[in-house]
Amino acid sequence: MRIKKHPVLSSIVEKTEVEFIFEGKMLKGYEGEPIAAALHENGVRVLRHDHRPRGFFCAIGNCSSCLMEVNGEPNVRVCVEELRDGMVINMQEGKGKLKGGEE
Ligand code: FES
Repeated sequence: MRIKKHPVLSSIVEKTEVEFIFEGKMLKGYEGEPIAAALHENGVRVLRHDHRPRGFFCAIGNCSSCLMEVNGEPNVRVCVEELRDGMVINMQEGKGKLKGGEE
């Protein structure tokens, strides 16, 4: 659910719609919004697994609850990472796979 009207904020500017891939599925969001916000708008609440499902916790980049793999890079905090057109986003298990094969 997105806030379209707000009693205090006089205008909420619509942003450019972009497409991104999540777990092999094409989804849409707004350019520059946090990746986690775009995922939530598309019904995705579980962002990763670490012995149990994890979702939003702090939402300000201070914990590790929302770490995901973005464009092949693990451990990206998607609550503060801006969405861009064509991004490829995947859930990760635990610490994720680092480039070069080390976990
Ligand atoms: S939810 Fe805490 S860093 Fe993203």
